[in-house]
Amino acid sequence: MTTRGLTPTIMKVFSGIQPTGALHIGNYLGAIKQWVELQEKNECVFCIVDLHALTSPYQPETLQNLILEKAIVYLAAGVNPEKATIFVQSEVKEHSELAWLLNTITPIGDLNRMTQYKEKSKKFKQNVNAGLLNYPILMAADILLYQTDIVPVGQDQKQHIEITRTIARKFNQKFGQTFKVPEAKLPNAGAKIMSLTQPTKKMSKTDPPESRIGLFDEPEEIKAKIMKAVTDTGKTIKYNEKLKPGVSNLLTIYSLFSGKTVKELEKKFKGKGYAELKKSLSELLINSLESFRRKKKELLCREVYVKEILEQGRKRAQIIASSTIADVRKKMGLT
Ligand code: TYM
Repeated sequence: MTTRGLTPTIMKVFSGIQPTGALHIGNYLGAIKQWVELQEKNECVFCIVDLHALTSPYQPETLQNLILEKAIVYLAAGVNPEKATIFVQSEVKEHSELAWLLNTITPIGDLNRMTQYKEKSKKFKQNVNAGLLNYPILMAADILLYQTDIVPVGQDQKQHIEITRTIARKFNQKFGQTFKVPEAKLPNAGAKIMSLTQPTKKMSKTDPPESRIGLFDEPEEIKAKIMKAVTDTGKTIKYNEKLKPGVSNLLTIYSLFSGKTVKELEKKFKGKGYAELKKSLSELLINSLESFRRKKKELLCREVYVKEILEQGRKRAQIIASSTIADVRKKMGLT
């Protein structure tokens, strides 16, 4: 018999990524890298959140391909379908149903003050739809359906996990204990990888390609983007987010892909110029992302296999989601 304190706790983990836009190293370092580590010892569910993607401008005829491509990204980046459940959000209808039910207990004021809503309303002025405002409620539904303990995400999603916690507590208070109250899990470093062209802004899928390194960028693209990355005045290679945001961002990326600490890197590049740092970082990234490119090419020829993984994932997710929604409906007085 194992002693209580020594038993490793198995956590329920949930996270997701939108299918639109090419994934970049920020998505990898902020989210997917954590997933790959967490899947070893925990019950993980990783979702392709296509319903969230409908809130920003997109082309319907490309959506299915983008979804399949994201499944391929998950697999190429190391998510193991034998250890984790991978599925498409819209294929488990309980996500939409729970989102509606949670809508009825969420104050509009809480949604209005969400940073992402404010930013996206500015970015897509012609399309400030209700879905954009209600986006965090659908995210809360995603997380709460699976009785999640932890949600591995980058910094920009932390506020959405906070509102999910508030919604869960409110529901439990009003209708009786139903949901676990989840926690966000941010990586120690890399929770906010910055843009290569505007290093005081986060790297984003919706900004121009030169501002980010795509997970599947070809070697020449990686080299060109890193060599052109905005650095700072001065010459020394030192980490200082406020005074040297550009160099600090490059050092963070270097550190996370090499496993060397920032201090070690400062020592390595002492007395050397920015061009040398950039050249070395390009080589590191080209090598580190090589297996992603190779695995993606392999998986692109195995569409049936990837679709089967999503189907198996859907079935597993459906079982958990149905059980939670049955409880929620009962508690809310529905049949
Ligand atoms: P999305 O698709 O915008 O981003 C996916 C993940 O990547 C992280 N991320 C970053 N991390 C570090 N540096 C960056 N520059 C950077 N940019 C993005 C994000 O924090 C995220 O973890 N709403 C979510 C998707 C979602 C979700 C969920 C996540 C829907 N339901 C439930 C967790 C749980 C989103 O749009 O992520």
